[in-house]
Formats: sequence, structure tokens, C-alpha cells
Amino acid sequence: MNRRNFLTSASATGAGLLLLKHATLFGQNTPSKKLNVALIGVWGRGLAHYDGLSRENVVALCDINEARFPDALRKFPGAKTYIDWRKCLDHPGLDAVVICTADHTHAHCAMWAMNRNLHVYCEKPIGLSVEEARLLRAKYLSLKNKIATQAGTQRHANPNFSRVRELVRDGAIGELRGVFAWGNRKLPRPAYLPGQGTPPAGFHYDLWLGPSPAHPYNPGYFSGGPGANCLQWNMYWDFGTGQVGDMGAHTMDLAWNAIDATHPTSIEAKGDAFNPDVTPVELTAHFDHPANSWRPAIRVSWYQGGALPTSPKRWIDLNGIGHGAMFKGSKGVLVADFTTRMIIPTDDKIDLAGYQPRNESNVTPPLGNFQDQFFRACKTDLKTSCNFDYNGLMTEQMALGLVAYRAGKKLEYDGKAGRVTNDEAANVLLSRPYREGWPMNG
Ligand SMILES: NC(=O)c1ccc[n+]([C@@H]2O[C@H](COP(=O)([O-])OP(=O)(O)OC[C@H]3O[C@@H](n4cnc5c(N)ncnc54)[C@H](O)[C@@H]3O)[C@@H](O)[C@H]2O)c1
Repeated sequence: MNRRNFLTSASATGAGLLLLKHATLFGQNTPSKKLNVALIGVWGRGLAHYDGLSRENVVALCDINEARFPDALRKFPGAKTYIDWRKCLDHPGLDAVVICTADHTHAHCAMWAMNRNLHVYCEKPIGLSVEEARLLRAKYLSLKNKIATQAGTQRHANPNFSRVRELVRDGAIGELRGVFAWGNRKLPRPAYLPGQGTPPAGFHYDLWLGPSPAHPYNPGYFSGGPGANCLQWNMYWDFGTGQVGDMGAHTMDLAWNAIDATHPTSIEAKGDAFNPDVTPVELTAHFDHPANSWRPAIRVSWYQGGALPTSPKRWIDLNGIGHGAMFKGSKGVLVADFTTRMIIPTDDKIDLAGYQPRNESNVTPPLGNFQDQFFRACKTDLKTSCNFDYNGLMTEQMALGLVAYRAGKKLEYDGKAGRVTNDEAANVLLSRPYREGWPMNG
């Protein structure tokens, strides 16, 4: 039995423990054993993964820009290089992929990887459309006893995420009534860039476009610094979802982590006038979620690009927080950014002193390094904090916000079926067009 098959069949039995037991027997699948990994998108955000990857076996490097290979090969000598991720995924003996490509290839690349039973770490957002988020989630759920997945929302490892969840769950602000998340990044763009020049030698623009409808080459899409070049293309509909998938993926995660939500039942959104090329800078989206076992029905709201929820106090500058979340409860309001939080009692009669903080043994243990959590999960119990189930639902919700914005009306949503029930035309907006030859499944 080769290593990959062993990993797969051992984890298919559903038990990391069993895997460890057998690992001792076989002596080759111990948690310390290195995984064979492909890094897809080796520069930019890819660089942030080099440290974690250097503790594994990087056997394949894929980038549409061949100019990025010499530096990557210095870090990972001996890896085979690919310009097309579809070929890279068939590299012999792969265990896992780390996907750091442009947003519009994430869903395809992740799906093709899961189709090969590979563990997948995919930078956020894992997909652009409602359909992409749903397909990835469904595929992952069908394989969850075989593979680990992690969406690249590494801020989730900040202890503050757990503290916020504990406070909300334990009733520090009373019964939860409403949830808000916002971000103030603004990247206004007028339209797709006009064609300009030709791609440099070794830059495979057609592969960069991948599944998305073609737009002429312009070096402006690639003029950003490492890890920030995404800001050059993520505002355009065929390449990204603007702040919804940019900072929204991180900031809504802070809220999503604390509310145990599934699908919204209705969605409404408003923002800038619709531009067929560019996603809105300013956007407000509201999502109504049904009650669950520990809280009543709640409205979750997302604000971006200048739109903000009302601050609970004049002296709290939500815009100054930049990217934050707020939870309104029957007794108080919790305001948080990625690393800190504060609670304000709702009025004088309310005393939060009755709130009992968790004792040490009930506090959520530190998650540790987010990328390492993924690699550890691949080798042991397959458990990650932002798998495609958890993050797929959140990505679906955020994409629904853009659908409601485009539909221009309040939409009723059947989350089980993945259908808008009060506007047939809006159902077309749940998916996005692909170029011929780029099926979602391959
Ligand atoms: N988690 C975070 O905090 C964080 C931060 C920055 C970026 N990101 C995400 O990381 C991804 C990459 O962002 P970036 O700013 O590095 O972008 P980028 O445009 O610099 O691309 C990164 C690398 O991927 C390569 N690439 C692009 N498309 C490819 C494809 N189809 N196949 C192979 N290689 C491809 C590029 O040539 C480049 O080397 C985006 O999805 C972005 O949202 C996440």
C-alpha cells in the first residue's frame, strides 16, 4: 500500500487514533512524516507559506509566471515546476496542495484537487459564486473522513477569535440579538483595464485567466507588491468579489465563528450603482438567519467601503477600527477587531458583573499556527478550524450578498436547495460564466 493510499484508507475509517496506531506499525505515516505538497502560486501570498512548507516535502511548484521559479526553487530545490495547475495536480505521490493563485481559479483548483483525494489549503475566498462555495462544501463533506481542508483565513488563529466566541456563547452580552461586521478598505476602479502591451516571455496570461471570461492583457493587473497584488485584480467581477472576498473573508469570519449559523433565509443588499465590470466599493448586506439551539433568529449584517453600522457610543469610532465585528445582546454590546474586544453594558440597570468567565479548563485551547494546523490535520485527525464546511457556508452567504445587491430586492433563499424562491432571475446570478475548456470538475 503506498503512502497516499494508506493515509486515505486509514483516515477513511474516521480515526486519527487508528492512523497513529497503524503509523507505528508501518513506521512511515507518523505525524512527523513529511507530506508531499504542491504549492500553486509560488510568489505573493505564496511566500507567506514558505516557512510552514519548508517543514514538509515540497515536490511541485506551479506558477503561470516562470520568472517566479528561480527564487522558489532556491527555497525548495528539487521540486518539479509546472505552469498549469491542472497538470501539477497529477504530480505522482502528492498528498496535499496549497493554493495561492488569483481568486477566480480557487474553486476550480480546489475541486480538481479534492477529486484526486488531496488535502487542500486554499487561500480565501475559496470561491467567487454561491454555486462554487456550495460545490466545494458538498465535495468536502463527501470526503471529510479522507481529507483535510483549510480556507486561508489565518487570523482565525488569533486567540481573540475564541475569546469573542466564548463571551457570546456564555451570555456575557445576554441573549444575542444582532451581528455586524464591517471593513473600510476602498479600491475604486472604473472598468476593466484596456489592452496594453503583451505579456512578458514566460508569463502565461491565458492560464492566468483560466476559467474566467477573457479580458485583454494589461500589466496593471500585475503591478502590486508581494502579497498585495490581489488588490490589482480583485475588484473586477471576473477575477474577484471586491471586499466581500478580500477583507470580508477575514472579518466576517470573526462574526461567523461565534454564531453557529448555516444558511440565511433572506438577504437584502444595497450599494454603489451597478457597474458590469467592477464590484461595488460601498455595500451593505443583511442576512436573516433562523434560530438555533442556543440563540434566537438573528440578522447578520456586512458593511464595506464607507458603509458602517451605527456605533453603540459616539466615542467608539467603528471606521477607526477598520475591520471589526459587533454583537448586540439583550444586556450589552461586544465590539471587536481581530485581536481585541470590549463589552459595553446596554444601560445603567444592567450589570455584567454576574457573568462568570470560563475557568481555565474550559477555555478554548490555542489553535497554534494556522498553516501548521492544516499539515498536522493531514497527518492525524483531519480536523481544521476553517474547513470547507464551516468556511463554505460563510463564503456562500457573502456571495449571496452580491447576488441580492445585483437583484436589487430582498431575496428569499432556500438554503437546502440553494435556490432563490422569490426571483427566478436571481438564480442565474448564483453561478458565474466559465470559458470553454475549464469545467469545474476535472
Ligand atoms: N490570507 C491572507 O491574509 C491573504 C493575503 C493576501 C492575499 N491573499 C490571497 O492570496 C491569493 C493570492 O494573492 P496575491 O496578492 O499573492 O496575488 P498574485 O496576483 O500576486 O498571485 C500570487 C502568485 O500566484 C501566481 N498565479 C496566479 N494565478 C495562477 C494560476 N492560475 N496558476 C498558478 N499560479 C498562479 C502569480 O503569478 C503569483 O506568483 C489571493 O486569493 C488573495 O485573496 C490572502
